Amino acid sequence: MKKPQTIKTVSGMRTLSRKAKAAGKKIALVPTMGYLHEGHVSLARRARKMADLVVASIFVNPAQFGPDEDLDRYPRDFQGDLQKLASAATDYVFFPSVRELYPEGYQTHVEAEKLSRELCGAFRPGHFRGVATVVAKLFNIVQPDLALFGEKDFQQLRVIERMVKDLNFPVRIIGVPTVRDPDGLAMSSRNSYLSATEREHALSLSHSLFLARELVKQGETDPKVLTERARRWVSQNPEARIEYIEVRDAETLEPVKKIDRPCRMLLAVWEGRTRLIDNVRLNPKNN
Ligand code: PAJ
Repeated sequence: MKKPQTIKTVSGMRTLSRKAKAAGKKIALVPTMGYLHEGHVSLARRARKMADLVVASIFVNPAQFGPDEDLDRYPRDFQGDLQKLASAATDYVFFPSVRELYPEGYQTHVEAEKLSRELCGAFRPGHFRGVATVVAKLFNIVQPDLALFGEKDFQQLRVIERMVKDLNFPVRIIGVPTVRDPDGLAMSSRNSYLSATEREHALSLSHSLFLARELVKQGETDPKVLTERARRWVSQNPEARIEYIEVRDAETLEPVKKIDRPCRMLLAVWEGRTRLIDNVRLNPKNN
């Protein structure tokens, strides 16, 4: 397995993508914050099938962390990441420093104004602005033909799609299904924060979503009934702190009164000091 080549500078990355484009190559970008797991690798594998040149970026983006969030303790393992990307035959890793992407005097941001304030955005002000900004920068630097994002961060996927449409980025966005541990927990770099007991309790997130999906399969169409059942399931652990559990339109993420079109149930729950998110598709019975 050949390790991907690391590029640390914007100019180095630009030169490379200019040459690749001149040679008629199709470029895929997989943006990440590192500490990679099978979910990230599934994005890289999918990218490999779709493009001639696969670039993964590893950048823990300060702009998307709030002042009291986990920026300083965010897990890192660059060598491990390189090995995992090698297993997915990724060609290049763009690994810039904070100074390289946000030089002195930096002050320009991108924001999907309405979407950014909903759901996670209501609890993490500035988060999606930070995400959209760094992804816009990565698109400008790498110039990919396509970019892959996980459904695990479903609102993020919709924010990026909105940005691409609104700002006319010539990039095709591919959403990739959530990869889970065998017991159902959605894989996340932040799962490494969980103690054994918290890991056990965290299963209630995916299980409450699976319960809702099952109820919809049986004909339930009332979002209130579904969120109430999910809430009760998660609350079996009295220490879990629910931020939100909601059913939204799968495309617009607007609230819905009835499951009569493709919807999504999304949630954010704290287990101890760790904030976890997850979501599932809810399709009406005859759809
Ligand atoms: P990060 O959390 O490292 O995730 C990078 C990509 O991997 C995202 O598109 C995310 O949705 C996807 N991903 C994470 N866990 C997954 C899982 N279990 N199954 C499938 N895909 C999964 O998301 C970010 O980084 C950042 O916000 C970023 C987009 C890189 C901007 O800084």
